Amino acid sequence: MKVSGKHWSGIHNMDGYKASWYKEWFGEDYLTVYKHRDNDDARRLTALIVHYCSPKKADTVLDLACGNGRHSFLLAQHYKHIIGLDLSEHLLERARRARKSEACPCFVRADMRQLPFKGRFDLVASLFTSFGYFDDDGQHRRVAEEISRVLKPGGFFVMDYFNGDYVKRHLVPEGERMMDGVRIREKRWIEEGRVYKKITIEKNGRPKSFYEAVRMFSREEMVTMFNRAGIEIRHVFGDYDGSPFSARAPRMILFGNKK
Ligand SMILES: C[S@@+](CC[C@H](N)C(=O)[O-])C[C@H]1O[C@@H](n2cnc3c(N)ncnc32)[C@H](O)[C@@H]1O
Repeated sequence: MKVSGKHWSGIHNMDGYKASWYKEWFGEDYLTVYKHRDNDDARRLTALIVHYCSPKKADTVLDLACGNGRHSFLLAQHYKHIIGLDLSEHLLERARRARKSEACPCFVRADMRQLPFKGRFDLVASLFTSFGYFDDDGQHRRVAEEISRVLKPGGFFVMDYFNGDYVKRHLVPEGERMMDGVRIREKRWIEEGRVYKKITIEKNGRPKSFYEAVRMFSREEMVTMFNRAGIEIRHVFGDYDGSPFSARAPRMILFGNKK
């Protein structure tokens, strides 16, 4: 079986898979499936960011791949100017509707591989695994270079990513659940250094499938990639409470500074 230039073992039904899956998946159904990733979750991570990236030294923040803006709104309680950027018009519209004032946070649509800014940010944050979506690593390096380019010298960088070792240990190959009257079936597997998820959503008896395919970067790969892009990684945490990173930690949260 060949999908988008790759050969599959044939164990998994990949009908409808596209390398550009991330252009289709992040809409209303994404919000239903990840409803548990809510404001409480965002509040814990925001507290960690505020602790390590002092608002006294940072005014202007880019929430890169901001989704519906759950972190942008919380970051706006600590930092002066927040720009949320995302590719999904649907999620950006949700974020704009949740604003109390038209000015802040400001939400813009763009691709993380080509950021429409010059070096002006004191802090760039990429939160809740909003990286690793592309089918070649050159594009991931391009994102790292874009982040570095839009940061002021000394500016802060934060990336909240999954920990591949933890995912390997805890992978649940199949599951089914109900959320808001919608049946959600999820299949997960690891292949060629990526974590795949096929999500089938059944509304009114009609099933629709989406995919996620996210690159499993090790800590060393991340540190090297960002270092080469001009960002020095200073701390790596394993969870939103600031506990140390290890093979058993659920998250890989990198904090660095533009050189
Ligand atoms: C897992 S969601 C996380 C959203 C948000 N950071 C949060 O924590 O709720 C990943 C986000 O990346 C965005 N995204 C995917 N590909 C993108 C791209 N090429 N450029 C910009 N944003 C992208 C999606 O639209 C989605 O909102």
